[in-house]
Amino acid sequence: MKIIIILLVIGIFLVLCGLAFINSGLFDVAATKPETEIVKWVLQTTKEKSVRSRSKDIAVPNLNDESLTMTGFNNYDQMCVGCHGAPGISPSVIGEGLNPEPPDLSELALHMPPEELFWITQNGIKMTGMPAFGPTHSDEELWAMVAFMQKLPDLSAEKYKSLKEESEKMPQEHNHGDHSH
Ligand code: HEC
Repeated sequence: MKIIIILLVIGIFLVLCGLAFINSGLFDVAATKPETEIVKWVLQTTKEKSVRSRSKDIAVPNLNDESLTMTGFNNYDQMCVGCHGAPGISPSVIGEGLNPEPPDLSELALHMPPEELFWITQNGIKMTGMPAFGPTHSDEELWAMVAFMQKLPDLSAEKYKSLKEESEKMPQEHNHGDHSH
């Protein structure tokens, strides 16, 4: 009985300390202030485990279909480059000012499975700059973006530029870039 009372008192004390810390304004929310290693580890691990457990049952369609490339490219070029950059293109000032930093997707696509790339693009990541594209895009478009991300590691800056030229030549109705529903 005594031990329960002691634990309860410690518990209440910790909650009060937490509330005092929140109200004190001591925590620095500035994006320019880097996280400590421990906070980084907590956030990174929470994200990884959350994405893995939520994406593991997603069925991956055939992503080698060449017809996905242009749809994927158009969406990527219009919605992702500003933050993540692309072969030969640096992120914009918005991408550079974000904390956490948007990663280079051509490196990431090498080791992240397609169902995780899909889940993140569809749902976004809370409390980071990563938006959810599921509310505005169909699954087919999202998978085309995943197929395109998987091509990024082998894509040269010249090839990216030539895709852009090809896309600009296409008639508007075949350009699925800014599709919204
Ligand atoms: C406004 C900026 C912004 C835009 C636009 C954006 N992202 Fe992100 N993205 C981020 C940030 C910031 C992160 C890092 C989140 C983190 O570290 O937890 C991220 C992370 C990701 C990740 C996961 C990386 C990881 O390490 O877990 C993927 C995949 C991704 N973005 C894909 C995309 C795709 C595809 C698009 C375009 C359709 C896109 N993003 C557009 C900011 C953006």
